[in-house]
Amino acid sequence: MTDSLNILRMQHPWPNIEGVRAWDFTLGGGGRELVDAIIRADRPKVMLEIGCFLCASAKRWLGLDDDLVVVGLDPWDDGLIDQCKRYVGRPGLSRAYPDLAVQQQFAADIESQGPFRTALANLRGHEDRFIPVRGLSPDALDGLKAAGLEPDLIYIDAGKKADDLEACHALWPDARLTGDDWHWNRTKGYPMRRIVTAFAEKHGFTVEAEHATWVLSR
Ligand SMILES: C[S@@+](CC[C@H](N)C(=O)[O-])C[C@H]1O[C@@H](n2cnc3c(N)ncnc32)[C@H](O)[C@@H]1O
Repeated sequence: MTDSLNILRMQHPWPNIEGVRAWDFTLGGGGRELVDAIIRADRPKVMLEIGCFLCASAKRWLGLDDDLVVVGLDPWDDGLIDQCKRYVGRPGLSRAYPDLAVQQQFAADIESQGPFRTALANLRGHEDRFIPVRGLSPDALDGLKAAGLEPDLIYIDAGKKADDLEACHALWPDARLTGDDWHWNRTKGYPMRRIVTAFAEKHGFTVEAEHATWVLSR
């Protein structure tokens, strides 16, 4: 596994983050203590996170265990720039940064620095334990498997699609599956909740959920 992680590190190098300002802003919706507990109890060596945004969640996982390596999959494309601009003045960003000028600086930095470099700046100091893979799930997952990736724990916080779960389970049947978006969104009929519940029934898992977070167990 060390060899395959080294291959992945070479295939997916960090950008230059010198002078890049970090923003430790998460889009997570709570309940991540469920995932913290798995990291603390099971000591997974390798975690795959699908959907990293500014890497606030990855930073959380890395802070729990000095031996954990996180492989993060996200396109970090420029669509995130407009997304972050739209957050200015809205409740989520206002809770994190009550000062409107700080929110505007946040959006300006994401635009000028780029989402990828800003995300990695948030993981400064973890260069040896986070591997940033720019791509889309599920398409990019086969390549990770082919490179030898064998995650013990997977956290899905991306496009709210059944494909991600099915593909992860098909490639890594022994990995513990967890994710976000359980609470999202009442008016849309909780799509991720329905996907996770159907997947659990089909494959014989039980679901534990708290706020946004869900965890599957045998
Ligand atoms: C809700 S945010 C992730 C939040 C992050 N985990 C945190 O706690 O701050 C969703 C992220 O998923 C990424 N994303 C969307 N579709 C994706 C896909 N198919 N594969 C990988 N990442 C995807 C987006 O670029 C975005 O950064």
